[in-house]
Amino acid sequence: MVELSNGGMMPPMIMGTYKITDYKTLKKIIRKAVKHGFTGLDTAYAYENEAIIGNVVAECMRDFSMQRSDFYITDKIDIWQMQETQGKISENVEEALRKLNTDYLDLLLIHWPLPEYFVQTWESFVKVFEQGKVKAIGISNVKKRHLKQIITDTGFSPHVVQNERHPLHTDTKVLEFCKSNDIVYQAYSPVARMIEPLPGSMELNTIAEKYNKTVGQVIIRWQIQTGAVPVFMTQKTKRIEEYAGVFDFKLEEHEIHSISSLDINYKMTLESVICPGF
Ligand SMILES: NC(=O)c1ccc[n+]([C@@H]2O[C@H](COP(=O)([O-])OP(=O)(O)OC[C@H]3O[C@@H](n4cnc5c(N)ncnc54)[C@H](OP(=O)(O)O)[C@@H]3O)[C@@H](O)[C@H]2O)c1
Repeated sequence: MVELSNGGMMPPMIMGTYKITDYKTLKKIIRKAVKHGFTGLDTAYAYENEAIIGNVVAECMRDFSMQRSDFYITDKIDIWQMQETQGKISENVEEALRKLNTDYLDLLLIHWPLPEYFVQTWESFVKVFEQGKVKAIGISNVKKRHLKQIITDTGFSPHVVQNERHPLHTDTKVLEFCKSNDIVYQAYSPVARMIEPLPGSMELNTIAEKYNKTVGQVIIRWQIQTGAVPVFMTQKTKRIEEYAGVFDFKLEEHEIHSISSLDINYKMTLESVICPGF
């Protein structure tokens, strides 16, 4: 488990659910994930699956004798919610709790730091955190300047940052800022959806061969050893078995370095497209 600055604990890996809206698929992969100890789930209003996740989690609790506290559920506040409420998002949090069939969230993230309502939204986040409705709060898709701004303007530092990070975009500046400010860093798109040049990379394949692991396992291991919590996604149960095998080997320093050297500052999720005024 990974410790947060407020003493809370987060699983070392989290399963994302981006736009998986099919009940059967979510049920299949969440149950498989739970069996392999992956009890962290990441969703957002925009993923259109909060209610399904709420049902699947309730079924897991019933069928596997689990408690709500065995799960780690992350939700996000989207740009349109920030706009519609001018940052006063407490009703959106209530709605998320209703849909997810829970009385608290483990983590709530600002999905994008929309400049217009960034500070107001963060002030509302601090309120719902202080009310105990969310156990930790954070921001996604940030640069260092956003973190500095929020800390200076509100005096309340995020517990968590969730950014795109993989060997083609190592996001070193934000990662290092998080480490020196006691902020847990989550890496979304941790294997960059395995686009080329990753699967064909000689460096990665040589390391994978050495440890008898897949390239995906090596990249996830690199994430963990460099201090990130990977937020991965899959619709295949065999991928969950694959990722369960990332805890029994350790990369050497020079291997970590060679994976980090693949960085070409390539991003799949572009702020200029998604977040007006970013
Ligand atoms: N905060 C944000 O703005 C934001 C943005 C994007 C994503 N996210 C979160 O991060 C989660 C993960 O994002 P992601 O889907 O981009 O992550 P990813 O884990 O890097 O990519 C997963 C995708 O790659 C595919 N894939 C193909 N070959 C693979 C291989 N050999 N090994 C592993 N995966 C392979 C997977 O398909 P299979 O079904 O074959 O495994 C899956 O569709 C999302 O679900 C969401 O929760 C957050």
